[in-house]
Amino acid sequence: MSRPLRVAVLQGGRTLERAVSLRSGAQVRDGLGRLGHTAIAIDTGEELVGKLIAAEADVAFIALHGRDGEDGTIQEVLEALQIPYTGSPPAACVRATDKVLAKHLMRAAGIPTPPFFALHDTVVKELGGAGALPSVERMLGFPMVVKPSRGGSALGVKFARQASELPGAMVGAFSYDVRILLEGHVAGRDLAVSVIEGEGPEALPVVEAVPREEDFYDYESRYGIGMTTFVCPAELPDGTTARAQQLALEVYGLLGCHGFARVDLMLDQEAELWVLETNVVPGLTETSLLPQAADAAGIGFDELLERILASALRRG
Ligand SMILES: Nc1ncnc2c1ncn2[C@@H]1O[C@H](COP(=O)(O)OP(=O)(O)O)[C@@H](O)[C@H]1O
Ligand SMILES: [Mg+2]
Repeated sequence: MSRPLRVAVLQGGRTLERAVSLRSGAQVRDGLGRLGHTAIAIDTGEELVGKLIAAEADVAFIALHGRDGEDGTIQEVLEALQIPYTGSPPAACVRATDKVLAKHLMRAAGIPTPPFFALHDTVVKELGGAGALPSVERMLGFPMVVKPSRGGSALGVKFARQASELPGAMVGAFSYDVRILLEGHVAGRDLAVSVIEGEGPEALPVVEAVPREEDFYDYESRYGIGMTTFVCPAELPDGTTARAQQLALEVYGLLGCHGFARVDLMLDQEAELWVLETNVVPGLTETSLLPQAADAAGIGFDELLERILASALRRG
C-alpha cells in the first residue's frame, strides 16, 4: 500500500447525474478508508475553490459524472490550484465529452464510429436546416439515432423510426445541448471496455449490456427503469474481444486519456465493431461497469482505487 494520503473526494455537483455521483463518491470514500487514507468529501456546489484550498489534500478524487466533472471544467480548476487529481487532463475531457469532436477525431484516425451529421441549433433556427434533413435521411436511413453532443446516461438519446419522429427527437436532444448528432443506427450488441493503468494502459474484460426486452427504442426509459443486465466477461469470440479491447486502447490514446476511462461500442450483426463514445469519469458505484470489469480481471475495488490514485500522483 502507498503512504496514507489526504484525498478530497469531489462528488455531487449540479448535474443531472448528481445521484449517481453521490453513490460513486460514497463507494470511493469507503474504499479509501479501508486503504488507510483520509477521505474528505466535497460536494462541488458553491465555493468549490475555497473548499479545495481548505482541504489541503494531497490529491483530488473526481467522482463527478456529467458536465463539470467530466468536461474539463473541474480539471482546469485543479490544474490552476496545482492539486493532483484522478483521471484525464482537461484536453482529453473536452475531446471525449463532446461527441461531435470525438467522432470527428475518430473518423480522421480511421477508428470506426457510426456515420453521423452534427447539427447546431442555429442551423435549424436561422439557416433553414430542416431543408437538409431529407438528404441526411437518405444517407443515414432509419432508424436514426438522435442525441445531444454533450450528454450522458442516455439522456436525450432517441431513436427515430421514421421521418415523422425526427422533429420530436431533435427537440428533445436540443434540450440538453445546442449541438446534436444525427447518427446511423447500429443494430447489435451493446459493449463497454474499460481501460485502467498499471505499467501502461490496460483494457479490462468486455462488459455487455443486455436488454431485458427485445423491442425498445427509448434508451432513456430503458436505463431509467433498469431494464438492462450486465454480462462480464461478455460472451464473444476471442477475436472480437481482442479487437474491442484494441479499439478501446486506441481511442484512449487518441483522446489523450489518463488514469482510467470507459469506451462504449456496438457490435453489429456482421461482427463489425463501432465506437460510440468515451466516458472519462465512468461510474464507480457497486453496480457500475468499470468495477465489474476490474473484478472479472481479478482486480478488487480497493486495488482499483489504489491504481487510480497512483496514476494521479504519477502525473501530478
Ligand atoms: N448509433 C447507435 N446505434 C445503436 N444504438 C445506439 C447508437 N447510439 C447510441 N445507442 C444506444 O444508446 C446508448 C447511449 O448512447 P451513447 O452514445 O453511449 O450516449 P451517452 O453519453 O448518453 O451514454 C448506447 O449505449 C446504445 O445502447
Ligand atoms: Mg454511453
